Amino acid sequence: MNGFCLYLGGSRLRTLVAGLIGLALIPSAAIAQTGACCLPTGICVETTAANCATQGGAYQGNATTCAGTSCPIVLQPFVDALPLPAIAQPVTGQPGHAAHYEIAMRQTQQRLHRDLPLTTVWGYNGTYPGPTIEARRNEPNTVLWTNDLRDAAGNLLTTHHLVVDECLHGPDLNGSAPLTTVHLHGGHLRADSDGMPDFSYPPGQSAPLYTYPNNQPAATIWYHDHGLGITRLNVYMGLAGFYLIRDDAEDALNIPRGENEIALAIQDRAFNPDGSFKYPAVHQENFFGDFMLVNGKVWPYHNVKRGKYRFRLLNGCNSRTLTLALSDNATFWQIGTDMGLLPAPVAINSLTISPGERADVVINFASYAPGTEIILENSAPAPFPGSPGVGVIPNVMKFIVGSDAGDTDPLPTTLASVPVIPEAEATVTREFLLRKTPVTIGACDNVTQSIWTINGLMWDDIVERPVLGTTEIWTWINRSGMTHPMHMHLVAFQILDRQPFQMQAGQIVPTGPRVPPIMNERGWKDTVQVHPFEIVRVIARFEDYAGLFPYHCHILEHEDHEMMRQFEAICPPLTIESTPDDLQVCKGAQAQFAVQASGAYLSYQWKKNGVPLLDGPTGTGSTVTGAKAATLTIDNVALLDVARYECTIKDPCDETRTYHADLVYCPADLDDATQTGACDGAVTIDDLLYFIDRFQDGDAIADLDDGSGTGVGDYAVTIDDLLFYIERFADGC
Ligand code: C2O
Ligand code: CU
Ligand code: CU
Repeated sequence: MNGFCLYLGGSRLRTLVAGLIGLALIPSAAIAQTGACCLPTGICVETTAANCATQGGAYQGNATTCAGTSCPIVLQPFVDALPLPAIAQPVTGQPGHAAHYEIAMRQTQQRLHRDLPLTTVWGYNGTYPGPTIEARRNEPNTVLWTNDLRDAAGNLLTTHHLVVDECLHGPDLNGSAPLTTVHLHGGHLRADSDGMPDFSYPPGQSAPLYTYPNNQPAATIWYHDHGLGITRLNVYMGLAGFYLIRDDAEDALNIPRGENEIALAIQDRAFNPDGSFKYPAVHQENFFGDFMLVNGKVWPYHNVKRGKYRFRLLNGCNSRTLTLALSDNATFWQIGTDMGLLPAPVAINSLTISPGERADVVINFASYAPGTEIILENSAPAPFPGSPGVGVIPNVMKFIVGSDAGDTDPLPTTLASVPVIPEAEATVTREFLLRKTPVTIGACDNVTQSIWTINGLMWDDIVERPVLGTTEIWTWINRSGMTHPMHMHLVAFQILDRQPFQMQAGQIVPTGPRVPPIMNERGWKDTVQVHPFEIVRVIARFEDYAGLFPYHCHILEHEDHEMMRQFEAICPPLTIESTPDDLQVCKGAQAQFAVQASGAYLSYQWKKNGVPLLDGPTGTGSTVTGAKAATLTIDNVALLDVARYECTIKDPCDETRTYHADLVYCPADLDDATQTGACDGAVTIDDLLYFIDRFQDGDAIADLDDGSGTGVGDYAVTIDDLLFYIERFADGC
């Protein structure tokens, strides 16, 4: 039972254990009478075979030694089928359309490998990874997220499942409470639906109802936890899931779909011998696991047909960058980036994605003989870039090619239009220096550490205030030896260029030209790899939603320990430039009020005598349109339309301005001097003659009052109408 301790028998992995983990095998000539013994507790002791057996342990063989205090875990790759996360089922509405979801975070147990005991995980709706939310462009979803983490007895958890480092910002105040908050990574949405870390909540509580407008192109985005100072622990426990936005443009493309379209969440983990997740108790600046999980299984396999597959790849690791390739080095195609499809498929043999990034790729298995096994491999050192071969987990998953034909249609040569944001559109350029800074930390204020920061500033130092409706260039300058994946909330950005630099006498000195991004980075992005001693410029339009939004390194260990800050999207000043005067309108005519306001993403609401208006008929004869637009139109004005109209103009910062005007009705003004019957605002003898003429004919225009003399039109022309008219005529209007 070499290295398997409790749960695997046999000696077939003896050399593998020794090779991988470094157990020393002493040549048989020097056989000793003791060896490593894995006790049922997972502790490794060196003792005799007999002693080991008495204690119920697994003897590793004479002369074997314990590499550490616990037994190394060795798991056989490719023995479990790839799990496919379920589609989230809404409470109302349908998956893939506007719908309302209620999703709870629950503690549960899952088997993450055939030979591992059950692992306690946290899952959305009790599954790790969470269910996939299917969304449609411009069809909003609402989600009620609830922290329902409970122990096996059903009691709400009061402490985290993992050890919380209470020196960090967040736990310094909240201790080890298992607070959560859900962020939709890649979602363009209001600040109050963004999962702000400061508003993390304990078990038993929910966030306010979140709205996801889905007003963005088809993309593979994902939701994950963002708890303040414990994001790395919460995501590690399993709080992550896919959120797929689809749209008509993507549907019109002939790319693999249905069972040929699979989302793969790739995450590394480490285990204790009892199957529990292993994670350091004290914050460390990187976490690298020993095993690669795809959709919550260690090194799974998937049976594929002989055809094309679309894989939506997510690097969901805490710290680990992945350089992925196929074991036969075959070409595959990248068709999409973080936030949507690329302009055209890009042929590649390997792909580097850092934590938080997604890559949409197509792999073609059509040419393989049935039975061929292709391994998706990783070669990225950890930390990244680092020295080749160091810290690598080489296996990711295996594809086993079957005999059935699959999708063999050619890939489209063009995919989506990704209009380039012109650099000249940017009005502001900001620089962000990524480096270690000595910081005195939270509760442990006697401890000064050198930690990763952005411009040496902290979470509460809010100095970036992009104005909605404007474009900015953000320049990331990495003064360090490791790659930082920099992520911005709210926006989709484009990468402008990368440029190498050196430090010379404390100055940043570029040492080469600005190089445009490689082809498979020329799409919409929300996370960008900023490599060591590189200046990376990205350009973004700030649109629609105001408020505080995080931006951070997506290495979760960095994010949790101050490599995360917030920008505040603000509104330009809201002003009403001019207003129309009060309107005097005749019966049956059209009234129109228009407001001219300046500001970004304004909303309008017209009211009549204080009551909000909707488009459509408001009473006999009159129809209202534009109740939520800058121009309100009332067709076929009747007496009941006489009122005070006001328009409340609101910007995304909740600034409001109100404009108002009165509608004055003039039933006595029926014609003009040429007797054409049009309204001219002056009541003259012509109007009286015209009225009498119409009164005799019984024409509807002469119907001014009702039988009770209240002046409401009843479509019967009676003596009341004449009396009403004469009264108005005498008043002038
Ligand atoms: Cu994927 Cu602020 O996060
Ligand atoms: Cu995000
Ligand atoms: Cu970082």
